[in-house]
Amino acid sequence: MIRLENVSYNYPDGTPALRNINLAIRKGEYLGIIGRNGSGKSTLALHLNGLLRPQKGKVTVRGMSTGDFSKLRDIRKIVGIVFQNPETQFVGRTVEEDLAFGPENLCFPPAEIRKRIEKSLAEIGLEKYRYHSPKSLSGGQGQCVALAGILTMEPECLIFDEVTSMLDPASGEAVLKRVKRLHEKGKTIVYTTHNLEELHAADRIIVMDRGRIVLEGEPEHVLSDSSLRGLGLTPPSLIELAEHLQEHGIQVPWEITSSPSSFAEEICRLFLKT
Ligand SMILES: Nc1ncnc2c1ncn2[C@@H]1O[C@H](COP(=O)(O)OP(=O)(O)OP(=O)(O)O)[C@@H](O)[C@H]1O
Ligand SMILES: [Mg+2]
Repeated sequence: MIRLENVSYNYPDGTPALRNINLAIRKGEYLGIIGRNGSGKSTLALHLNGLLRPQKGKVTVRGMSTGDFSKLRDIRKIVGIVFQNPETQFVGRTVEEDLAFGPENLCFPPAEIRKRIEKSLAEIGLEKYRYHSPKSLSGGQGQCVALAGILTMEPECLIFDEVTSMLDPASGEAVLKRVKRLHEKGKTIVYTTHNLEELHAADRIIVMDRGRIVLEGEPEHVLSDSSLRGLGLTPPSLIELAEHLQEHGIQVPWEITSSPSSFAEEICRLFLKT
């Protein structure tokens, strides 16, 4: 549903941020994007709904080019982005007002806007904060408001750019669970992160380095690739543990590396066999 063809982008100061990117994101796919600081993840995310446009190449969303200004509103109805620092995006005095902003901008009628606000407040469990100022909320609560704000636009595709990096582990896990639920409901998800532990459930992962896609594949292969450390990334600890066990001749199936509890169960099964 989103296609990037030979996309290159330099920032106005000349910094090359994307170099000849080719990528097709399928409808309903959960795509993870990883890469060290400055590798181009955010720049790529900003290209997916036309917040940035390529200097070379082309980005299309359901066949509509982001370079075509007359299509930008339609493109942004389809693709929504949640960023790392939600407080920089809050525009309303209250959470409710903030949630109204997106659908108002897309020119939906007031009754429809009301309905969408109620639905996304309920979906994210934010009803009790509806009259709070979004700026008075904690980082995790703010991230939930940003997510609810995107949901009011009912996009088919949601882009999450490092949304958990400022959150405590519990808030981060809560956001990640919501992302997974949205994927299960059929949304297309693009999720950028430094934390490889978060991407076990992705359908596909791409690794970026210096503006290029340097590795691509299913999580099972990408997360255990020997080049990750050289690319400034730390493999998930359970996957490393599985590799160390394999060096000692103990085969550990990929599926159990998804959580410490499934890993522990398998180890017990192997060693407590009577
Ligand atoms: N507004 C800007 N002006 C100039 N250069 C920029 C700007 N934003 C990013 N860059 C540069 O573009 C390159 C890609 O940056 P980008 O923010 O896309 O990386 P990233 O992978 O998202 O990094 P991080 O993990 O730190 O979020 C880097 O070299 C960065 O310094
Ligand atoms: Mg970034």
